[in-house]
Amino acid sequence: MKKIQKIAMMTSGGDSPGMNANIRAVVRSGIYHDVEVFGIKRGFDGLIDDEIEAMDLSSVSNIIQRGGTILKTARSKRFMDAAYRKIAFENLQKRGIDAMVVCGGNGSYTGAQILNQEHGIKVVGTPGTIDNDLFGTDFTIGYDTALNTVIEAVDKIRDTASSHNRMFFIEVMGRDAGFIALNSGIASGAEAIFIPEIKGDYQNFVERFEKNERDNKLFSIIIIAEGDESGGAFKVAEMFKEKYADLETRVSILGHIQRGGNPSCRDRVLASKLGAGAVEALLKGESNIAIGEINGKISHTPFEKAIKLQHNSISKEMLSLAKLLAM
Ligand code: F6P
Repeated sequence: MKKIQKIAMMTSGGDSPGMNANIRAVVRSGIYHDVEVFGIKRGFDGLIDDEIEAMDLSSVSNIIQRGGTILKTARSKRFMDAAYRKIAFENLQKRGIDAMVVCGGNGSYTGAQILNQEHGIKVVGTPGTIDNDLFGTDFTIGYDTALNTVIEAVDKIRDTASSHNRMFFIEVMGRDAGFIALNSGIASGAEAIFIPEIKGDYQNFVERFEKNERDNKLFSIIIIAEGDESGGAFKVAEMFKEKYADLETRVSILGHIQRGGNPSCRDRVLASKLGAGAVEALLKGESNIAIGEINGKISHTPFEKAIKLQHNSISKEMLSLAKLLAM
């Protein structure tokens, strides 16, 4: 088997805190193993446009603590076209690049897999997204930081909620997954949590509200995942206001503050571990796999499985815990 000599790294899809730590780990472990490492700018779009640069130790110094991605990122429409994928491959081929690490989500894994199927280049993925919605890892890079950002914001909102006796409907990210909502909801002591994986959250909430109103329980923080069937925080507030016009309500959409900021310690360590793991996997001849961490150990999951299964299921225990603690 020919030894891998040149690896290219890209970040793709939505940025997430810890991507820089992942880039750093790929570059440094590559250099440690005598491999040349290249950085591809702007994900698959940059690959098509030939934005590829050699990286050395200095290109990744002083970045482990920074949010975003120094390589920049994009969601490429052009890469869905085989003609552009051929151009992308030729840009790798002309530099003699044998393998690629793609840090991103499901769409990025799919792009890497197609490039492998059509042109044979070795590819591995590392899970970079705040949503935690990838199969083949317990946690994705950026998720922990996003959770910490959310609870910091909710703690602040709670001060106003309790000072004014207001109800806040707070919308958090997660695309079509409820991991951010459920875990930040538990950690911030939310009185109700709406997630896409559970149907009828709004109805249950209204029933609980009516029952508890008599006992004077305060409902001040309601966390709503953006992908919830209710249609989001504005919609929920509107439905609620129609029924309880006398109550003071407010809506807060946390939005992209959840994607930015310095990565937490957990995300830096996870990103470092998975970056080094990606290089090692490629050097062992592996390809078409997602690198993750399951029960503290590095895991390799075939792209085919990771992409098809989409993501882990929401834990029943966590759902019960959220319910119990919000009584
Ligand atoms: O996947 C990360 C994420 O922030 C999701 O939580 C959200 O639905 C989406 O990206 C927003 O994407 P955009 O970059 O288009 O704002």
